[in-house]
Amino acid sequence: MPTAIATISLKGGVGKTTLTAGVAEFLAGEFGQRVLLVDLDAQTNLTTMMIGQDRWLQCNKRGHTLATLFADALDDTRRFDLDTTLQRDVSPVESVRGVDLLPASLDFIELQEELSARRVAADDHAALIDVLRRAVAAIADNYDFILIDCPPNVGPFSLNGLSLADAYVIPTIPDVLSTYAIGHVQRQVADFGREIGREITELGVVVTKFRAAATLHQDTVLRLRRDPSIQNVLPAYLHEANVIGAAAEYRPYVNLRAKYGHHGHFEQFRGVTQALMIEAAAKVSSTA
Ligand SMILES: Nc1ncnc2c1ncn2[C@@H]1O[C@H](COP(=O)(O)OP(=O)(O)OP(=O)(O)O)[C@@H](O)[C@H]1O
Ligand SMILES: [Mg+2]
Repeated sequence: MPTAIATISLKGGVGKTTLTAGVAEFLAGEFGQRVLLVDLDAQTNLTTMMIGQDRWLQCNKRGHTLATLFADALDDTRRFDLDTTLQRDVSPVESVRGVDLLPASLDFIELQEELSARRVAADDHAALIDVLRRAVAAIADNYDFILIDCPPNVGPFSLNGLSLADAYVIPTIPDVLSTYAIGHVQRQVADFGREIGREITELGVVVTKFRAAATLHQDTVLRLRRDPSIQNVLPAYLHEANVIGAAAEYRPYVNLRAKYGHHGHFEQFRGVTQALMIEAAAKVSSTA
């Protein structure tokens, strides 16, 4: 059984997608794990980071994205094909093997409205939040980890992600506005867990875009560490760095060192990945 982890925050731009992509690459490239990436955001950022714009356009044109899955659920059609939609061995890093991807689509924008409306109206609204989990069930055992990148809201796509997830992580920039969102996410996930009758485990907060020289960032990290409502702040942080921002561009790299550089950012990503694996093993394995 894989461990499925959702990356979620109500705040945009805190590094959810960058974290998800990097952790997948390090899980596979450094720790030999098999990873399924699930992109649930209409912005398709994770998808284009992993397969590039051209290949995504091909997928989208052929209906080989998760949009087809959700359209099927709404229209009662059967067009989604898991085998052709699954993009195998993605990531522009040559040495990374074993990361597969279920791509997102811009069509999610329209689908989100329809799913939300139907969820309010329909008696079987539980079925509409379980679409992804039921679809992925057939291949889940091929993986050690499923990483789910959610949009910056708790709409129907994120709920589908949470319905598949055993656990979640909350990335945050250690500043005032970003950290406000943490409590909201925790409450929304806990409420949803009650709705579906099982707990979705909080693995912790991941500090992103950390600026070591900024007093605000130092103070905020200390405040988060002392906050009793936060289960855990992961010991490794992702610093703000050009090389991490540049990872969003799809271009070939020989290995992870070439992608994440020689100034400590490789080690930061490796450290965050390892910390997540340790947390997941400690908190989630008993339910697997
Ligand atoms: N550690 C970092 N250092 C520098 N730039 C970063 C870092 N992490 C992310 N970025 C950049 O910040 C922007 C936002 O990051 P990202 O897209 O990962 O955030 P997000 O939370 O997924 O956003 P959204 O809410 O829109 O989905 C991107 O341009 C990304 O390349
Ligand atoms: Mg994102």
